[in-house]
This record gives sequence, structure tokens and C-alpha cells, in this order.
Amino acid sequence: MKTILTGIRPTGNLHLGHYFGAGKTWRENQEKYDFYLEIADVQALTDNFDNPEKVRTNVYEITKDLIAIGLDPKNIHFFIQSKIPEIAELTVFYSNLVTVSRLQRNPTVKTEISQKKELFGNNGESITYGFLGYPVSQAADITCFEGEIVPVGDDQLPLLEQCREIVRKFNSIYGNILKEPEQLLSKTPRIKGLDGNDKMGKSLGNAIYLVDDEKTIHDKIMKAITDPNKIKKDDKANPEICMVYYYHKLVNNEDNNKKICEECKKGERGCVQCKKELIEAMNTFLKPIQEKRKYYDEHPEEVKKVLENGTKQAREKAKETMKKIKESMKIDY
Ligand code: TRP
Repeated sequence: MKTILTGIRPTGNLHLGHYFGAGKTWRENQEKYDFYLEIADVQALTDNFDNPEKVRTNVYEITKDLIAIGLDPKNIHFFIQSKIPEIAELTVFYSNLVTVSRLQRNPTVKTEISQKKELFGNNGESITYGFLGYPVSQAADITCFEGEIVPVGDDQLPLLEQCREIVRKFNSIYGNILKEPEQLLSKTPRIKGLDGNDKMGKSLGNAIYLVDDEKTIHDKIMKAITDPNKIKKDDKANPEICMVYYYHKLVNNEDNNKKICEECKKGERGCVQCKKELIEAMNTFLKPIQEKRKYYDEHPEEVKKVLENGTKQAREKAKETMKKIKESMKIDY
């Protein structure tokens, strides 16, 4: 069985973008691989170092969300990054194998720095050593467990490329010890926000969370963007530019969607009615997830147990890898 390693920063609850862009692929692959899922609290701290409470709370929140969408702790080692000191150790060793300018040129890091002006300054002049270096730590995340396959969205590809470069450099100096990971690219393109923005995100305020209650779902969907040329109920419209139809396609069934599309084009469907139907479909979609989650809300000790067991298994694997690495680096005193 090949090894999969992936991670998620615990900075907030999961939204539909996470679900369709990542979580669903993880669920579909959980039985085919030896699967490590890292709750990346140390990485989350690189840009939330001033808010440790947020990171701590979300370690548990995100674990509950992940179990609720059907990731089974029987198939997956859920683990907390900070509980694996080997990752931090390995990050220090790898930091010799990467130049500062290479990190500054990493497209993912560049984009993130430009998005975090408050934290890192207008031109990234206040960038921290820790944030600039997080791709090195992510390479340690992957290789510590000999991850062979990393499921990613396209925004993460530069981080994986950086990891491969570190692996090649390491192997060329210390011997052929590490495996170069491959990507498993998500089939779903990025999920758009309710406002039509290309990306769904917390900071953009356009996301539907898996934990949203009926009232929240109602209020968010009623505000979603439709075809701006459709003014009256019986105007003909173009569903392909309507966010309500876009979301119907995600959560409603094919027969309904065909009908919705045809009626909309013919001017036989009002947007308010269409939104109400989407609210129904969305609640039906979210209900089983929320019911499962409720159980874990009421049994926090079981969530802790999942993380404890997964972390224990992950730690054993990390120790084995570390032994080989230290031998090859001649620091096995
Ligand atoms: N950088 C990833 C994100 O922001 C999270 C992550 C941490 C990760 N470690 C990883 C992803 C290892 C893949 C592999 O979502």
C-alpha cells in the first residue's frame, strides 16, 4: 500500500470549498492508501502566532468536521503536527538545503505574503523567518512519513515542487534515503463563492460552512448573485452565470438541475423560488454531515482519542524515518 500524506491548517471550520476541493477526494481515497492526515497547528501558527487560542480551538473543530464528512479514523491516522517533534527537527536539517531567495520566489508564498499586508507589510518587508520557511517545514511533514502521494489543489503545487527539490538535494548529498512525493491533483476546480468570486474563503465572506445552521444558510443563499439581466420573474436568463444554479449543480440531483436550467432559460422560473429550492437542497446535503458532527460535539473525549491514537501511530513512523535520516547525516551519536 502506498502512503498518502496531506495536511490542513486549523484556522477555521471547513466550508464547501474545502469539501469539494479536498475533503471529498480524501474520502474517496481513504481505503486505498496508508493515509496520514496532519492537523498542521505549527504551520497555522506561522501566520497566527499572535492568536494561539484560535489555533487550539480549531484543531478540535476541524477534526470533527473531517470525521463528519466521512473520513474514518479506522482508515486514516489523524495527527497533530506539534506532537511530532521529528518534524521540527527535520525542518532544521532541511533548512540548510534551501536558499532564502528560492523561498522568496515560491509562488504560493509570494501570493500569501501579498495577501497578509497587515502582518508582513506592504511589500513583505516584515516577513518572519518562520513564515518564509514554512515550505521547508511542509517538506518535513511529507518526508517524515515517507509520503509518496500528496493530494493537493493547484495552489499547493509550488510547495510540492519545493519539497521535491529538497529531497533531491538531500539524496545527492547524504545518499538515496528519501522518496520524491507525487501529487494527486484534485479533480474539482476551485469552488466559487456565493458572490461569484473565483474562490470561496473565510476572508472573502462568501463561504458556506458545513456547520452553518438553517437560518444562516437561508440568509446567505438569499443574497447570492444571479444573472444581472434577469429583472422580472418571467425574464429569460442564463443559468451559466448564476451562482444559484452553480450551487444547485453541486448539491442538487441531476434531474432537478436539468429542469431548473431549462425553466430558467425559458423564463419560467423566478430567482426567489429557485433560491428557496437551493436552500432545501443545501440543508438536505448538510444534514447527515451535521448529524454526525453533533455526535462528536457531544463526545469530545472521542475526538481526543482519535487524535491521540493517530498521533501515536504517526510518531512511530516518524521515529523510524528519523533514524535512517540521522544515520545518513552522520549525526546518529
Ligand atoms: N499548506 C497546506 C494548506 O495550507 C496544509 C499542509 C500542511 C499540507 N502540511 C501539508 C498539505 C503537507 C499537504 C502536505 O492547506
